Amino acid sequence: MSEKQRVSTRRGTLLAVALLAVALLAAGWSVASGEESEPVYSAFNGKASYKIYCMNCHGVSGKGDGYLADSLKVKPTDLTAMAAKNGGEFPFDRAMRSVDGREQVRGHGMREMPVWGDAFLWPEDNPERRAEVKQKIGDLIEYLRSIQEPPVAP
Ligand code: HEC
Repeated sequence: MSEKQRVSTRRGTLLAVALLAVALLAAGWSVASGEESEPVYSAFNGKASYKIYCMNCHGVSGKGDGYLADSLKVKPTDLTAMAAKNGGEFPFDRAMRSVDGREQVRGHGMREMPVWGDAFLWPEDNPERRAEVKQKIGDLIEYLRSIQEPPVAP
């Protein structure tokens, strides 16, 4: 190896170490400051969950015409009209709470035993699991946002 090559290799290593240090610092900073960066939600993943957990009641279209709807005492909400019923603004946070059980919804069952079991149960005491649940519900709600009539901006 020539002297020149050796120098440039050493520079490369130094650069890598420096970058790693910056990355670690950044990670440490966000953990230390307790910052939870807002996750990015996927309507695509949400749609998959919707089909499994919501469609039987709320229907393929989201309008509340699922095959179980007729046997329910309370008609499932038309989920495509959530924004329209809220002055044109999609009620993201309320929708999150309706699913994780923090907001009681007739038809969704008790908070301790929602109709979808513990798939989206909000674990007050387990931050790791909470992030997971938040992502799953967020994806779902992002999907609901995408089916609003008339459409709303993401
Ligand atoms: C067993 C049937 C059933 C299933 C399954 C179900 N829902 Fe519902 N949902 C209802 C009924 C009934 C209502 C209307 C309750 C009322 O009017 O109080 C409702 C209301 C809602 C509302 C409106 C709450 C509000 O803030 O006004 C949202 C949002 C909602 N459901 C989302 C979902 C999502 C997302 C899923 C899937 C994870 C789901 N639902 C699964 C029956 C169901």
